[in-house]
Amino acid sequence: MASDTTRRDFLRQTGLGLTAATLGGSLTAASAQQLQATQQSIRAASSGLSQPGHPIAISSANGLAAVAEAVRLMKESQVRAVSAAVRGVAIVEADPDDLSVGLGGLPDESGEVTLDAACMDGPSHNAGSVGCLKRIMHPAAVAERVMDRTDHINLVGVGALAFAKEQGFEEADLLTDRAKGIWEKWLKNREPDDRLWPLNDTLPADPILQGEPRPWGTIHCSALAPDGTLGCCTTTSGLAFKIPGRIGDSPLIGCGLYCDNSVGSAGATGRGEAAILSGGSWLVVERMRAGDTPTEACLYALRRVAEQTERSAKWQPALWKDGQPNFGLTFYAVRKDGLYGSASMRGAKGSRKFAICDEKGARLEPCTLLFES
Ligand code: GLY
Repeated sequence: MASDTTRRDFLRQTGLGLTAATLGGSLTAASAQQLQATQQSIRAASSGLSQPGHPIAISSANGLAAVAEAVRLMKESQVRAVSAAVRGVAIVEADPDDLSVGLGGLPDESGEVTLDAACMDGPSHNAGSVGCLKRIMHPAAVAERVMDRTDHINLVGVGALAFAKEQGFEEADLLTDRAKGIWEKWLKNREPDDRLWPLNDTLPADPILQGEPRPWGTIHCSALAPDGTLGCCTTTSGLAFKIPGRIGDSPLIGCGLYCDNSVGSAGATGRGEAAILSGGSWLVVERMRAGDTPTEACLYALRRVAEQTERSAKWQPALWKDGQPNFGLTFYAVRKDGLYGSASMRGAKGSRKFAICDEKGARLEPCTLLFES
């Protein structure tokens, strides 16, 4: 789709209403039955459409303050979309109460907080990322420096830390008492097969963990500037109690985030391994290029993940339960014409939300669910 595709063209080419064939795919009868409810909700689904020329930012539900800040920066200071997203998520990275990102993020199995982040700029089609970065509160901003000040895309571990320090980022202790307490409880009750089946773990009840047995909490933010340019970033402390050195989808371009300035921008939160194995964020953008609405594109990627997970269940039975993937995964997308949407793998109706800010202000809206319980 050319960069001069108009908003009217976009809308004419798309439209809601996926067929049973496109949704049912190769899933078993039981799974296909579960998907019937979803098909109905997709037909009723309405991706939001914002006013043309107004900045828009979409993020995971923990990013309400982030989307408001990103939109303010694009509107009042003409900050480019990618930088607005990075500066928006910095609020969440600095929030000690968010257990999924930056300061206060849940540590790896050795008790160390390690962070992954990436950003992507639409106009230059350039990206930067850091993986397994320790002691730096704002990994997304470091990723932006990798993008802007080097010819590299990925920096990891000690190299990423050295680069961050060279760029003037200060070291900090990121493990809060609360995150440490949750890690200590996990350590005491640790399952012997925990590395193979992290889904079996039970965590101390915490509202921010959103009912997931072992959270892969993250924040993604995609932004559309008033001039129609796009940018995005994703930042995370990754899977709680991961093996030291594990990186997830967040620092991997095409997995935890992707944007194409002629089409749209997308990102993921949830089980990173599933977003990696599906090339999820790239797939969402390519589906929008082919004419899907953002919600349809997110659902398409989730359906692909579900099919892949069902096929792999013979080798990884813990990942497939009751005819659906046994993990959370959510995609977020905004199209170049301002249409936005989000879909989540599973949950009770209305339980999964995303944050959006446009001319109507910052608010939470419900994600469309692939499997509604
Ligand atoms: N989606 C974040 C992670 O899996 O690390």
